[in-house]
Amino acid sequence: MNTSRIFETQDGSHSIVSEQFGESYHSKYGAIQESRHVFIEAGLHRAAQQKKSIDILEIGWGTGLNTFLSFLEGKKRELTIHYTGVEAYPINQEEALKLNYPEMLQCEVTEGDLFYQMHQQPWEIPCTLLPGFSLQKTCQRFENLDYNNQFDLIYFDAFAPSAQPELWEKPVLEKMYKSLKNSGIFVTYCAKGSMKRILKNLGFTVEALPGPPGKREMTRAFKQEF
Ligand SMILES: C[S@@+](CC[C@H](N)C(=O)[O-])C[C@H]1O[C@@H](n2cnc3c(N)ncnc32)[C@H](O)[C@@H]1O
Repeated sequence: MNTSRIFETQDGSHSIVSEQFGESYHSKYGAIQESRHVFIEAGLHRAAQQKKSIDILEIGWGTGLNTFLSFLEGKKRELTIHYTGVEAYPINQEEALKLNYPEMLQCEVTEGDLFYQMHQQPWEIPCTLLPGFSLQKTCQRFENLDYNNQFDLIYFDAFAPSAQPELWEKPVLEKMYKSLKNSGIFVTYCAKGSMKRILKNLGFTVEALPGPPGKREMTRAFKQEF
């Protein structure tokens, strides 16, 4: 069982501490602030420069915050988003209902309800939540999945290398490379040198970008096949 505990980060938005991994799901400086900076601004905005219909893969779906932010941003920018969220140790429904993201984001009731609907949606079944936004949640360890050339954008949001070293090594990063279409984009909050070297060796073009508050750098990488 994944025992966890909700707390308030410095921007007022909730996060969860996982006792299983001894880590929090987001930065203590702000969960929404961090997710927007790393995944929406560095990831989705960049992908939207290339196309209007975007297939997103998130590794470490957790609270669903990145999905919800992607949905809101997609609606604003008139994007079509097909979102796949992979999660090995889901939070329970009771915890999900307590998360304050719709309130913090000042969502209309119908939009806010969508956040809770995402959590109630069954695993493994693709569902169109609204026209232009579909979600498939997969309850699996990412290491056990094999995607091929399917995604425009990967949000890699597992726990840190110190907690889950095996997820930041070549075999798993190579699976991510294979999952992406050519010119696909990979973003993560992590800036570890060894991870960036592996990404380069796999064929990614790697960029170090300024990180969110509390973090000097983050990483964005592009799959380039010739
Ligand atoms: C840092 S948390 C981030 C969660 C999420 N992105 C969010 O915003 O709430 C990391 C997540 O990765 C999940 N996870 C850990 N190992 C995994 C694995 N092997 N495959 C898929 N998900 C995994 C954890 O259960 C947790 O939900």
